[in-house]
Amino acid sequence: MRTRTQVGIVGGGPAGLLLSHLLAIRGIDSVLIEIRSREYCEARQRAGVLEDGSVALLRSAGLADRLDRQGLVHGGIYLQFDGQRRHVDFRDLTGGRTVTVYAQTEVVKDLIARRLADGGALEFSVTDTEVADLDTDQPLLRYTDSAGNRHEVACDAIAGCDGFHGICRPSIPAGVLTTWERDYPYAWLGILADVAPSTDELIYAHHPHGFALHSLRSLSTSRLYLQVSPDEDIGEWPDERIWAELAHRFELPGWTLKQGPVLDKSITPMRSFVAAPMRYGRLFLAGDAAHIVPPTGAKGLNLALADVAVLASALDALLHGDDQPAAVYSATCLQRVWRSTHFSWWMTTMLHRSPGADQMETQLQLSQLRYVVSSRAAATSLAENYTGFPVELTVESRQPAQGAR
Ligand code: FAD
Ligand code: DHB
Repeated sequence: MRTRTQVGIVGGGPAGLLLSHLLAIRGIDSVLIEIRSREYCEARQRAGVLEDGSVALLRSAGLADRLDRQGLVHGGIYLQFDGQRRHVDFRDLTGGRTVTVYAQTEVVKDLIARRLADGGALEFSVTDTEVADLDTDQPLLRYTDSAGNRHEVACDAIAGCDGFHGICRPSIPAGVLTTWERDYPYAWLGILADVAPSTDELIYAHHPHGFALHSLRSLSTSRLYLQVSPDEDIGEWPDERIWAELAHRFELPGWTLKQGPVLDKSITPMRSFVAAPMRYGRLFLAGDAAHIVPPTGAKGLNLALADVAVLASALDALLHGDDQPAAVYSATCLQRVWRSTHFSWWMTTMLHRSPGADQMETQLQLSQLRYVVSSRAAATSLAENYTGFPVELTVESRQPAQGAR
């Protein structure tokens, strides 16, 4: 079956779904293909913290009804180290900026519901996805739908929003991309627990046993992480062992960690990766397809949303004969990407224990942590990076809006 669309979108994560909506607002057609089922995409446990700019972007795109009702606004974080738990007050340090705790699963559910309500073309559970003719004005998207029919879609442009393990980045000819990569000698064991959070704001804990993070998904669901080895066997971590280790790493006189049933348990490797440029011909990479940060600092989801805000404007211009925004798409995004890559690396290396680390490393980390909580300049640097920088918010359309509420 041969069809046509303006923008072919590979991947139904936050980047691909938001892009399809931002294009629809501008009257631009797209076809989005996703290898997983809708149910899988809506249940996959990942990030949980939205920067101010991400919230503003979702709000300006008419996607924040539930986010505004259910999102939990946080005005700071706690840093715990050396037997003390110290608050970093984002509102005070940044002139009122905050972050919002709202799970990636909820962002994805909101986006899918909205695209389907607006009649968007979303194809889940596809197989054998391919992109071709990327250096022409009519790149092709090929896939087999869930009923077994093979499709070829002629596009004006293709957005590679298919995550780190997708097919779009590897479809770019060898020698075009420069990549930078760092693997970290640790991973995160994450749990989702059916218990009210034991804290009002997130706790990032430095501990001789390794890093721990207390986050949350709602006022009744907690999300907690433990630094473990990258080759850790999850089978070695029964729930009781996880709770005991969490209680130990967060231990503070007068404070108790509430425990409850574990709903989800997984191990995530940690990596920094950047590929540049984020474009080849008429293929544009966005989100994890182009870059990965270690999760400390909660930047991955926010970067994916910021990329497609820039990409939607660039594609709108390109399809109307103005190549300039598309020509600077990669450079525009990479400025934010590198800032977040540095911040995530900095938070990660300040808080984690490297295997075989000597006492010197520990003392340097503790000195940095003491500096962050005692110097307004250092705390402000953390606060402005954590809450994030403004995102391009131009969602006005060149054509009469379709499906915009
Ligand atoms: P993804 O969300 O990865 O979406 C890509 C989509 O493309 C997927 O749905 C995938 O199924 C689909 N796809 C892949 N290949 C193909 C193909 N060939 N054809 C069609 N579709 C394809 N960030 C944080 O900020 N905090 C966290 O705690 C955190 N935890 C994470 C835990 C895990 C296990 C992972 C993997 C990531 C985590 N991240 C976290 C990062 C954050 O979730 C990502 O940065 C974010 O999901 C990026 O969105 P995306 O749309 O670019 O990519
Ligand atoms: C979460 C993940 C992070 O990496 C982080 O820094 C803060 C919160 C989370 O999943 O809630």
